[in-house]
Amino acid sequence: MHYSPRSGRGHLSALVAPLLALAINQAQAGQVEVLHWWTSGGEARSAALLKEMLEKQGHSWKDFAVAGGGGESAMTVLKTRAVSGNPPAAAQIKGHDIQEWAELGFLASLDDTATAEGWDKVLSPVVTKVMKSDGHYVAVPINVHRVNWLWANPAVFTKAGATIPGSWEEFITAADKIQAAGLIPLAHGGQPWQDATLFEAVALATLGTDDYSRAFVDHDIRVLSGDKMVLALERFKSLRQYIDRDSAGRDWNIATGMVISGDAAMQIMGDWAKGEFAAAGKVPGQDYRCVAAPGTATAFAFNIDSLAFFKLRTKDDQNAQQVLASTILSPAFQKAFNINKGSIPVRLDMVMDGFDQCAVDSMAAFRSANANGTLVPSWSHGLATTSQIQGALTDVISNYFNDDKTTAQEAANKMARAVKAAM
Ligand code: BGC
Repeated sequence: MHYSPRSGRGHLSALVAPLLALAINQAQAGQVEVLHWWTSGGEARSAALLKEMLEKQGHSWKDFAVAGGGGESAMTVLKTRAVSGNPPAAAQIKGHDIQEWAELGFLASLDDTATAEGWDKVLSPVVTKVMKSDGHYVAVPINVHRVNWLWANPAVFTKAGATIPGSWEEFITAADKIQAAGLIPLAHGGQPWQDATLFEAVALATLGTDDYSRAFVDHDIRVLSGDKMVLALERFKSLRQYIDRDSAGRDWNIATGMVISGDAAMQIMGDWAKGEFAAAGKVPGQDYRCVAAPGTATAFAFNIDSLAFFKLRTKDDQNAQQVLASTILSPAFQKAFNINKGSIPVRLDMVMDGFDQCAVDSMAAFRSANANGTLVPSWSHGLATTSQIQGALTDVISNYFNDDKTTAQEAANKMARAVKAAM
């Protein structure tokens, strides 16, 4: 820059003002350490976007990613850190767990930001109920995932002369044809949370939304051990024959990769799977199809990702937390993040342009399920019940799926007993 003494005050202030602004920004710059489990291709792209948007506002992001789909490992690590008095600034905590952390006195209030930005007006009461403890916002919702989806590779169906199924009967017909053609019908990862996710879809179709809620939200013991549950368990077990032998321990995104590559025909998984198709450059309707999991077209099992914020000491870090919360609910973030993540925006006032057909369908399904009373919380992803009950049910389901000793009726009785013991 050329300095001329004659340019006087104007020039000096032009020089000093940006430095002053920089100094102020630096004084206000805080750091947010964020615990999450977004480590697959699509998930990591989504998390990177949030980091970038926070850093653009002068704050820094300390990444604390704990691998493990469904988040069980992340929650174990979080408990250890919190118990030792050193929790991260923000953590991906969902559903009932939010209230539990709040009741233990760990969480900071987001009320000021929520009031200033009118969160109550742009979010559904179904969502705000989960984010508040005692009437106060202690978490910020990020998105809405639909869990009951089926992802299909149409080229595999064509090869086998099969049709993408809408019901369980059609699923069996298609799976038999695909298997007869020497192909893998169902891509699955043999991890307990994935077993639970698959069972949730079968249970939703078999029980219907009312009995699903009686069993997994109200914990009605008669429904948990009743005839429909036994049928759901039998159907669930019959899916094992359509899964390849190497599924034990396989991560969910590797299973999605099998559908992407055409090694398998279908996967039943929440729409974070779409993030993998998107990251691989695949186009819905063309390279892959998304349809409701068999028999669940009118139902929507919701899973809401959210970040809860732990109480911090310094003003700068507290400020950075509020900036992060406000960024998450900004329309720009809601659009870009959800396109990558496979979910739909949690704001009700968003237009869906720029979103693909699966997201548009998901939003329509969300709205109509909300209006018709068929919107149900996903128990396998922590929205319906406590993590104790979720864990107990997951153990029973996964053991039943993977051993040959337990009958469906015995498994149903075990579910009822496990829930009773964990209540
Ligand atoms: C989370 C998703 C995540 C998925 C797989 C779910 O419980 O809600 O955000 O992508 O687990 O890790």
